Amino acid sequence: MSTPLATPDETRDFPIGRQCPYRPSTGYDAFRADGPLSRVRLYDGREVWLVTGYAEARALLADRRVSINPRLDGFPALSAEMAELEGTGYTDVLIGVDPPLHTRQRAMLIPSFSVRRMNALRPAIQDIVDQRIDAMLAAGPPADLVAGFALPVPSMAVCVLLGVPYEDRAAFEGPARGLFDPDPDRAGEAMTALTEYFGQLVRAKETNPGTGLLDDLIAEQVHKGTLSRDELVRYAMLMLIAGQDTTANVISLGTLALLEHPDQFAKLRADPDLATGAVEEIMRYVSLIEAISRVALEDIEISGHHIKAGEGVLIGAAAANFSPALVPTPDAFDVTRSPRHHLGFGFGVHQCIGQNLARIELELAFRALPQRMPNLRLAVPADEIRTSVTGPMERLTTLPVTW
Ligand code: HEM
Repeated sequence: MSTPLATPDETRDFPIGRQCPYRPSTGYDAFRADGPLSRVRLYDGREVWLVTGYAEARALLADRRVSINPRLDGFPALSAEMAELEGTGYTDVLIGVDPPLHTRQRAMLIPSFSVRRMNALRPAIQDIVDQRIDAMLAAGPPADLVAGFALPVPSMAVCVLLGVPYEDRAAFEGPARGLFDPDPDRAGEAMTALTEYFGQLVRAKETNPGTGLLDDLIAEQVHKGTLSRDELVRYAMLMLIAGQDTTANVISLGTLALLEHPDQFAKLRADPDLATGAVEEIMRYVSLIEAISRVALEDIEISGHHIKAGEGVLIGAAAANFSPALVPTPDAFDVTRSPRHHLGFGFGVHQCIGQNLARIELELAFRALPQRMPNLRLAVPADEIRTSVTGPMERLTTLPVTW
């Protein structure tokens, strides 16, 4: 059992759910009022720590005494689905691995994610954004912004990152979307189809290289015998799983937040150059990833609390992003500020490796939408917009818009 040195607080259930899909619950105010750490109860009845203080969240994300390994006892899965996902092999590279193995895995990938390499992808991502908006405009209103824009842009961007040939991309889109199907059988089929596809693609690229992350790793690792084809396919799948749905939901929830704050949408329309900084505010305000799971490897003293070895720790990134330690008026949505040190991409050794790609996609999306669809608005009342929640993130299933 834990032994809080400060006054023990009442144990609440977690996750707490959102009142409004595009921003974290105001219920976090009560947690923050209790102090930077609270005790919460998970779906399976287990009690773990929830860290809502901004400084404490950063400190723990950078602390080697906590582990990301979901196979360790005490690791806090946020839902039964998440606990199952952790048994699929998804967490075998990077996202479930501690240093020193993690350090070696990540070092291998870093050159393919450099700022220079990401900037080289900009024109291709701009084309993807333009084509999707052209298609929506050509078809005319109303449209579903999730299916027409928010999902395909990140899916195609991951194709560009990996080096999926242009001619394969149309066939790729269906299975890539299927990975996130709520029906586990359909998601499993998509996983099998994509694993097979990547296996064939890697073989083809070995003799006929192109440009992309897969080509980098074939040249630098596979040919040298330091990475197997199967391992490379696992990295490709991780990029799809980690990079697609996340970015898609920040695009759709960010757009919803802007449409619900027409003054902020108007600012972006009037000055498209605000988009670069606005991405940081959108990431903070939407706070897609509610909490980041870790388990303590050793006893840790932090801000008057004693976390014991083996206890689960949830880093409440969404709560921390609404801390006055990050921005002076956290409840305001203000696209003219740029709070770059939000925890939307995490922090520490596991901080999102795709963040510079995501930033480019988000910037180009939030630059283009107000420019090319200046009269964009919801086609249904906001309270009819449906969401689904899996583990640490809220998703928009559709976003009906008109213009
Ligand atoms: C707006 C979109 C995105 C959000 C909100 C997001 C969020 C995050 C967060 C919070 C983490 C840290 C997880 C942890 O510490 O446990 C993370 C890690 C990661 N992200 Fe992202 N991400 C986004 C886009 C992407 C993209 C585009 C890619 C790749 C194409 C990507 C690939 C990864 C990978 C591979 C990791 C694991 C890194 C490691 O463990 O070293 N993400 N992401």
